[in-house]
Amino acid sequence: MKRRTKSSSGPTKVIVRATPSKIREAAALLANGKLVAFPTETVYGLGANALDEKAVAKIFKAKGRPSDNPLIVHIADMRELKMVAKNIPDVAFKLMKKFWPGPLTFVLPKKAAVPHVVTASGKTVAVRMPENRIALALIKAAGCPVAAPSANLAGKPSPTTAAHVAEDLGSNVGLILDGGKTRHGLESTVVDVTGKKVEILRSGAVTAEMLEKVLGYLPETAHHAPDKKGKVKSPGMKYRHYAPNVDLLLVAISDRKTMIAEVERLIGLYHRKGLLVGVLTSKEHRKFYQTADQVVVCGSLNDLPSVAKHLYDSLRTFDPHMADVIIAENFGSKGIGHAIFDRLSRAASKIIH
Ligand code: TXA
Ligand code: MG
Repeated sequence: MKRRTKSSSGPTKVIVRATPSKIREAAALLANGKLVAFPTETVYGLGANALDEKAVAKIFKAKGRPSDNPLIVHIADMRELKMVAKNIPDVAFKLMKKFWPGPLTFVLPKKAAVPHVVTASGKTVAVRMPENRIALALIKAAGCPVAAPSANLAGKPSPTTAAHVAEDLGSNVGLILDGGKTRHGLESTVVDVTGKKVEILRSGAVTAEMLEKVLGYLPETAHHAPDKKGKVKSPGMKYRHYAPNVDLLLVAISDRKTMIAEVERLIGLYHRKGLLVGVLTSKEHRKFYQTADQVVVCGSLNDLPSVAKHLYDSLRTFDPHMADVIIAENFGSKGIGHAIFDRLSRAASKIIH
């Protein structure tokens, strides 16, 4: 169900166009320990002054986020990098030169100035410089690094519009700077650069192949299973994420004909059980699912960045009045397809191979 606030002021009043004066207003809120939601090139973030422990604690409360899941610190210039991280390896600078500002987050040894609440008491801090005019202007005007997770309720799809933020967080956020729909639509790639080899902790718009061109080797993607001590390298990966309002089944079959046949079979199966069925598909495949009760078209198979861009919005579009269960197609795993598959598998309650 969509969340509606009972207050007469409603959630939409906190959304403002990101004019220079509103950016200054938002920066002042940050400097005063308040929360501000802002656009980045990936998804909207829910920001607080990263060096203000009390302000950062409010993020966890507003999102209902588990305290063992650390936050990404957003910076606007290299001076701020040195404020939060130390012993930065050369390979990190090499990658920053190529991909910053942009959707690449680095896990680095943290400086003492970063409060434990940001890093979930860990010794490392995740840092990125976003490639978004509004985000950069906001961080600059606030004069501090900004800790910001995606501005959704924990477990829900990340917000790619200001309206998504209002839907999830409503009056729990002082101000939502509206910068339109975000360009990439999926969160940044997270890399750990503290080991011998660079490792991908979360896939995103900067793909392993793009990193390989700078590194000279193809970086591995970390397994999300806990190690012997029960620790996970990327704490966020152990939680179910991005879940729409009803159960989602991911049909992970790569052969197209077999996949379509399986989706058709599942539609029939659930219909016989008396359930309404939603299907998440591409422009190319929508014609196969005429019998489904709600079909949501998410981009084109010939343009996977378009699938990434619309994925979270599509997941939010499913209506519990029209679908009791969602069947999602596999969009392939080339390039950003890897990140799309990762997000869909974590939105899924069941994966069909
Ligand atoms: O694109 C993005 O990265 C967006 C925008 C707002 O910048 N932010 C975002 O934040 O996706 P969040 O909190 O939703 O996801 C941060 C991810 C989580 O999986 C978290 O566990 C991981 O980064 N992370 C943060 N600090 C870490 C650390 N020190 N070591 C390992 N993983 C870390
Ligand atoms: Mg998130």
